[in-house]
Parts: sequence; structure tokens; C-alpha cells
Amino acid sequence: MPAPSATAVELRGVRLDRGGRTTLRTVALAVPAGSITAVLGPSGTGKSTLLAALTGELVPAAGEVRVFGQPVPRGARALLEMRKGIGVLLQGNGLLTDLTVAENVALPLRAHTSLPEPVLQRLVAMKLNAVGLREAAGLYPRELSGGMARRVALARALALDPPLMLYDEPLTGLDPIASGVIMSLIQRLSRSLGLTSIIVSHHVRETLPIADQAVVVANGGIVFDGTPEALEASGDPLLRQFLRGEPDGPIPFERAREVA
Ligand SMILES: Nc1ncnc2c1ncn2[C@@H]1O[C@H](COP(=O)(O)OP(=O)(O)OP(=O)(O)O)[C@@H](O)[C@H]1O
Ligand SMILES: [Mg+2]
Repeated sequence: MPAPSATAVELRGVRLDRGGRTTLRTVALAVPAGSITAVLGPSGTGKSTLLAALTGELVPAAGEVRVFGQPVPRGARALLEMRKGIGVLLQGNGLLTDLTVAENVALPLRAHTSLPEPVLQRLVAMKLNAVGLREAAGLYPRELSGGMARRVALARALALDPPLMLYDEPLTGLDPIASGVIMSLIQRLSRSLGLTSIIVSHHVRETLPIADQAVVVANGGIVFDGTPEALEASGDPLLRQFLRGEPDGPIPFERAREVA
């Protein structure tokens, strides 16, 4: 396991362009290994874009992105290798509907390892157990509630034991109880496995309590980087507007209209 002071993710002078426009300029960010970082901010400001730069899906227009000390590679093969170490949970779950829960969780193991079948099945059972769904192994995605489906997607993201987990809006579409279950699972898994977790979320109230570090993305850059306590205590009008969800203030509403 990396030393506590090690940096899991580092961005230096990163500029990210999408569709010919700059989404984020001169981003500098360090995510300590073993920490939980919440990436918050209004819609369309570039939170998902930031995650895309970490997985190498989006190549920065300037600057450097490092994951566990290594620059994110450009070549397809090296990129594939690096991505084995990054678990990604996307909003849509991405479960294959004609495969059982167990087969969905087995997918990354089949794609990236040549483990004997009994070992693979054992690993799948362990991952399902970790998300409290051991009994659901034989079910199909259509038989799952939204919260269960999200947990299956979480088990699949964890299948290869990645040291870094990226969550993009993990609570979308979940009721408050299922949201609480997912957040405490993310926290428990991060702590017990020593993972570095980056959670992109609109759900400020649910996400901040489990975060060690909070980052707010707005107006083309990172406008806050510090502890959740410091964020809550901030007198900055932009941050106050965002935390309170107010339509009027330094965050221009026009931006959202441009995006739509
Ligand atoms: N594949 C793409 N091609 C072109 N433009 C894109 C692409 N993906 C995102 N964008 C643009 O980049 C900007 C940032 O989008 P992004 O999805 O990163 O925002 P976000 O903060 O994740 O928003 P949300 O909270 O709504 O998910 C937006 O203006 C969006 O329209
Ligand atoms: Mg997004």
C-alpha cells in the first residue's frame, strides 16, 4: 500500500478542451493516496471532463496528469494497462442485461485475467459479498432495484482490486435510503481496502460527510480545494451560492443554458 503521504492523482497546469472549447483551464490538483475526495460543482462545469482526463479518455490540451506518479500514457496498450488500476462507476451502471449479476461482475476478470474458473467464481462471490449482494448472484439486471443495480456496478468496478476508484454521480436516481447505503459502502470500501476515491457529485449533503478533501469546480477552474469543514465555513459568495443552491450569484446561470 502506498505511504499515507503519497499522491494518487496529480494535475499540473492542466487545460481540458471539449468540442473546440476550453472547459477547464490551468487546473492544479493533488489527491492524497487513501483519501476520499469530493468533486462538486454546478452542472456542465467540467467535473466529468476532469475524470475523463484521469482515465486517459481525454488528452489534456496542456499540462500533465499523473496517476500514482506515472504520467497518463497515450498509447492504447499502456492506457489499457493503466486502466486496470482504475475502477470507474458511471451514472448509468452499464450492466449487461442478458448476463446475470455474477456474470456482470466477472466481466473485468474474464477480460483482464486468465484465472481458473473456480478462483474467478470465488472472487465474484467475494465482491458481491462486499456490497451485500451475495444472494443476488443469479439474478438478472431487470430483477434488481436501482440501489441493488448500483451496488452490482460497484462490485464490478472493484473486481480487479483497483487502488483508485472514480465515481461519477453515484447517487443519481436513488432514493435517500439507497443513497445512504451507497455512500456508506463507498466509505467502508475505501477505508477497509485503503483505496483512493474520487467522487463527482451534485449531492453535496450526502458526499461531504464522507470526504477528506473537497474540490469545487466552477467558472472554468477549481474555485475551492480544502477540507469539507473549510468549505462549509467559507464566506466566498460563489461557494455560498453553490452550497445553498441559489440561482442568483457569481455562478452565471447562462453557462447552464449554453450547455443544454
Ligand atoms: N464529448 C464531448 N464533446 C464535446 N463537448 C463535451 C463533451 N463532453 C462534455 N462536453 C462539454 O464540456 C463541458 C463540461 O461537461 P461535463 O460533462 O464535464 O460537465 P459536468 O460538470 O460533469 O456536468 P454535469 O454535472 O451535468 O454532469 C460542457 O460544456 C459540455 O457540453
Ligand atoms: Mg458530469
